[in-house]
Amino acid sequence: MAGSAGNHHVNSGLLILGLVVVLLGLAADRAQAQLQFGFYKGKCNATDVESTVRSVVWGKYQNDTTIVAALLRMQFHDCFVQGCDASILLDGPGSEKNAPPNLSVRGYDVIDAVKTALEAACKQVVSCADIIAMATRDAVSFANGGFYNVQTGRRDSASPAKNVALPAPNIPINQALSLFARKNLSPVDMVYLLGGHTVGVTHCAFYQSRLYNYQNTGRPDPAMNTTLVNTLKKTCPDPRTNGPTTAPANLDQNPASALVVDNSYHKQLLRGNGVLQVDQDLASRNFVTGLIVSNIAARTDFNAKFGQAMVNMGAVEVLTGQQGQIRKSCRAAN
Ligand code: HEM
Ligand SMILES: *[C@@H]1O[C@H](CO)[C@@H](O)[C@H](O)[C@H]1NC(C)=O
Ligand SMILES: *[C@@H]1O[C@H](CO)[C@@H](O)[C@H](O)[C@H]1NC(C)=O
Ligand SMILES: *[C@@H]1O[C@H](CO)[C@@H](O)[C@H](O)[C@H]1NC(C)=O
Ligand SMILES: *[C@@H]1O[C@H](CO)[C@@H](O)[C@H](O)[C@H]1NC(C)=O
Repeated sequence: MAGSAGNHHVNSGLLILGLVVVLLGLAADRAQAQLQFGFYKGKCNATDVESTVRSVVWGKYQNDTTIVAALLRMQFHDCFVQGCDASILLDGPGSEKNAPPNLSVRGYDVIDAVKTALEAACKQVVSCADIIAMATRDAVSFANGGFYNVQTGRRDSASPAKNVALPAPNIPINQALSLFARKNLSPVDMVYLLGGHTVGVTHCAFYQSRLYNYQNTGRPDPAMNTTLVNTLKKTCPDPRTNGPTTAPANLDQNPASALVVDNSYHKQLLRGNGVLQVDQDLASRNFVTGLIVSNIAARTDFNAKFGQAMVNMGAVEVLTGQQGQIRKSCRAAN
């Protein structure tokens, strides 16, 4: 009797042990399949991956402060076309790089320089998708946008994206909201993320339709500040006259803040100084985003909130664990 009670005890002990092992296994699987902070700690010989990225990006930033805008736009495009999987970096026909609205997607040389430095320290350990996220974070911090911790553990796609459609500059706000919602990004995330337009430039073709004959009214877009209309007309001619286009326009119309990551973009929207249709529409009280814009413009914690939104965007449709690959070169699948 005592023996069988003992056996029973041992059996239930084993059962519990088994359960614990299974649960731990599940937890490990799950941890492996998720992004995490500091994924590369101790994984690249004696090299600290994040500080290597930072020093390469710092060198590039000192030469050219516009890499902040380049990297922000790159991360957005990467994450919104087939997930944050570095598919945007692939060369060749049919790749995202060659998709029509690719004007001003730049910064590939920054990613290549980081990749070269990391491959010299540990081969095929750090993904190109993670390099985009880390390099963008560092660039943002150099531009006074604050330092946010990024999650890592992404893997790279083995093939370019099939559907490379990017949102047009005049995408209606309701469509933008549903596009972001499909990526698990909230309206608040979206309004912070459009704040990426606090740096960088846009070209005449993307806002020309607002300056002269808006929706066939023969007048500019009434939502655009008339001072801005007149300024932009100087460098962006009436499409019906075929005049020469010259300089691109800053997306953040406060010249003192055009290279700084802050809430100046949102403040400018409240004055009718959004350059793209999507920018100005964001501030419209016809949409839930209008209140969010006013709120962000009045707050003093932009950096932390923007960083959180960037982390959220960085988690869109990622490859992790054994999915995808770690590319040797960011420009080509292995
Ligand atoms: C509905 C969403 C969005 C639309 C329709 C949109 C559209 C555009 C357009 C049309 C340009 C100008 C391209 C050119 O003139 O060459 C641009 C530039 C830019 N976008 Fe966006 N964008 C969106 C969201 C975002 C997000 C979420 C970010 C980053 C978090 C971002 C960051 C940038 C940056 C930094 C630039 C300037 C690039 C440079 O100066 O090199 N955009 N965007
Ligand atoms: C420095 O920046 C310019 C663009 O402003 C670029 O053409 C050049 O390649 C950069 N040099 C280095 C070493 O990155
Ligand atoms: C953008 O796409 C065009 C073809 O549509 C291509 O010729 C050009 O090189 C691409 N730009 C970049 C920066 O890859
Ligand atoms: C880094 O470590 C890997 C093993 O993880 C080894 O194969 C490689 O030779 C090391 N690289 C250098 C540059 O020491
Ligand atoms: C138009 O922009 C200027 C310059 O930022 C600003 O001073 C003015 O208040 C704006 N006008 C309106 C109606 O918001």
